[in-house]
Amino acid sequence: MKPFNRFCFLSMLYLLNIALPSHAQNQFSNLGDEQYQPKWGQSGKDVIWIPTASEMVTDMLKIAKVTSKDLVYDLGAGDGKIAIAAAKEFGAKAVGIEFNEDMAKLAQRNAQKAGVADLVKIIHGDIFVEDFTKADVVTLYLLPDLNLQLRPTLLKMKPGTRIVAHAFNMGEWEPDKEMDSRAKIYHWIVPADVAGEWLIDKKDPASKVTLNLVQRFQKLGGSISVGKDSHILISPTLEGNQLRFGYFDKDKMYRSINAVIEGSQLKGEEKGGVSSWNSLTGVRR
Ligand SMILES: C[S@@+](CC[C@H](N)C(=O)[O-])C[C@H]1O[C@@H](n2cnc3c(N)ncnc32)[C@H](O)[C@@H]1O
Repeated sequence: MKPFNRFCFLSMLYLLNIALPSHAQNQFSNLGDEQYQPKWGQSGKDVIWIPTASEMVTDMLKIAKVTSKDLVYDLGAGDGKIAIAAAKEFGAKAVGIEFNEDMAKLAQRNAQKAGVADLVKIIHGDIFVEDFTKADVVTLYLLPDLNLQLRPTLLKMKPGTRIVAHAFNMGEWEPDKEMDSRAKIYHWIVPADVAGEWLIDKKDPASKVTLNLVQRFQKLGGSISVGKDSHILISPTLEGNQLRFGYFDKDKMYRSINAVIEGSQLKGEEKGGVSSWNSLTGVRR
């Protein structure tokens, strides 16, 4: 184990010692079955196995607003408890990826025993090799450096994909939400790529409208130019592919724009003063 991983391993144990008094460890007393008995803290390819406490699993799936329409992937599935809870408590389809073959088989048996084998598939594989881009929700209980290694892949997933991590964050990609459970839970929504210049067509083309967006993960800044006048964007937000911002026009009237980004196309509506919403479209240069 690399020194950094050893540090994180100790952090994991430290977190669990704080969060988990011995009387509460009962939930981990029945760790396996007659075919395989994994050991709490046993080594894994890139990270040891420590199961997420059951109530925290539920909190992770709740913060991601998992529903029966979702496909949930747990990266490093262990005994399958996150995938199984996604199916059993939320009706979702779920896939777990687990490198340890015995553990992967145990997880699939656990899904069978829980009565959700039709919704849960455990893949024996490596999270750095298997394709999980179809997921609507990705759950992680790994290590900080593994989260950072996965970050570029996660950011390329479809905008709106929800990511939830147990205990460890994603460095400079700040979470959209966080929650205190047994340990910290972090939640991100994969942002669309919106940076650059957009030509906006407002259907009443008195003058040319250009939107300039500067982006760092889900955080935005920028301006909108209407003819010769440029206006700073007020409270621009990006949630998946939903873009929202306001600005004061040349008459000091506040206008707000809501738009959906689909690749290099933008479709939305603008409201200003007492007027109703007017549709607009845009294309990225
Ligand atoms: C901390 S445990 C989390 C288990 C489960 N996700 C949970 O929260 O209860 C991490 C799991 O990842 C597995 N693992 C480690 N490296 C892996 C890799 N490269 N690909 C797939 N699984 C891996 C370990 O065997 C272990 O079961």
